[in-house]
Amino acid sequence: MDPIEQVKAIQEKALSEVAGASSSEELTRVRNTYLAKKSELTSLMGLMKQIPAEEKAAFGKVLNDARDAIQAAYDAKSQGLESAALSAKLASEAIDLTLPGRTLCQGRVNPYWIIVDEMSEIFASMGFEIVEGRDVETDHFNFEMLNVPKDHPARDMQDTFYITDTLLLRTQTSAAQAHTMLAKAGKEPIRMICPGKCYRRDDDDMTHSHEFGQIEGLVIDKGISLADLKGTLELFVRKMFGEKREIRLHSSYFPFTEPSVEVDVSCAACGGKGCPMCKGTGWIEILGAGEVHPHVLEMGGYDPKVYSGFAFGVGVERVAMLRYGVDDIRRFYQNDVRFLKDFSEK
Ligand code: DAH
Repeated sequence: MDPIEQVKAIQEKALSEVAGASSSEELTRVRNTYLAKKSELTSLMGLMKQIPAEEKAAFGKVLNDARDAIQAAYDAKSQGLESAALSAKLASEAIDLTLPGRTLCQGRVNPYWIIVDEMSEIFASMGFEIVEGRDVETDHFNFEMLNVPKDHPARDMQDTFYITDTLLLRTQTSAAQAHTMLAKAGKEPIRMICPGKCYRRDDDDMTHSHEFGQIEGLVIDKGISLADLKGTLELFVRKMFGEKREIRLHSSYFPFTEPSVEVDVSCAACGGKGCPMCKGTGWIEILGAGEVHPHVLEMGGYDPKVYSGFAFGVGVERVAMLRYGVDDIRRFYQNDVRFLKDFSEK
């Protein structure tokens, strides 16, 4: 065959194979066949010797043109395959913006903590320091420093989880009283609250839980009287339950206060007229309090002839139950989201 015809035939074959290549691997193979150093086209260079001198230039041109044409076709195809691969990749990784988002479950603050925070804020605004007590206490601080020696009948009121003979789970935040007094070395005035969990071996029911929260309050200074206690608690109750609330004190007994009182708040549901919420009395009991017993002051290093004080202890869940109309203390510990999602911070 005429060498020029041979070149043309190879060119045609190469171009059709380039056009037919469907992957970059195939295209590379075509390039190696037609454009590499040892390709069919370069082997045709060997024919140059047989070509008459006057035709050599024309033959060389045909060869070069063929090579350029194959190279150009190769380049175009290679680019085409690359962009097709890119489009395929983009299509396969496309994000469907019309899909709805995933719902994030947002946590809520347990109403127990909403009340602790609110009460802490109220007392802090009256200048009370917030003291941290300890859940694991000694018998000494939980009872003895509060005027409750071993075998005292008052111990029966607080069935206790003992860890050892001397270590126990705090039954009352009152345990923080003596710690605070000793830390102030019997000299500085005290105005503190101590929020914390308490534990008692109670059978759980609607009003009892073996784990519950209290906020202890202790004020010691020169000339503190029951009137200061009443004024402080009245302010607290009005901030917590509303401006129209009244309080009343009636006598009670706690070993660490003398006199001891129980504090009632006028029923918010009926305004004091009497309703099922207050069992018809118009009043709801909310906390125990009293003047700090002189012996407790003395054990804490405060001279009862110089200093006097008042203390109170309020149940956190009790306040939360009244505030939110919750009828069962166990709800605060069951972590039922249907209950928890009803509460939000103000
Ligand atoms: N600690 C008492 C209790 O758990 C509550 C209490 C009563 C605390 C009177 C006081 C107080 O500080 O003065 O039953």
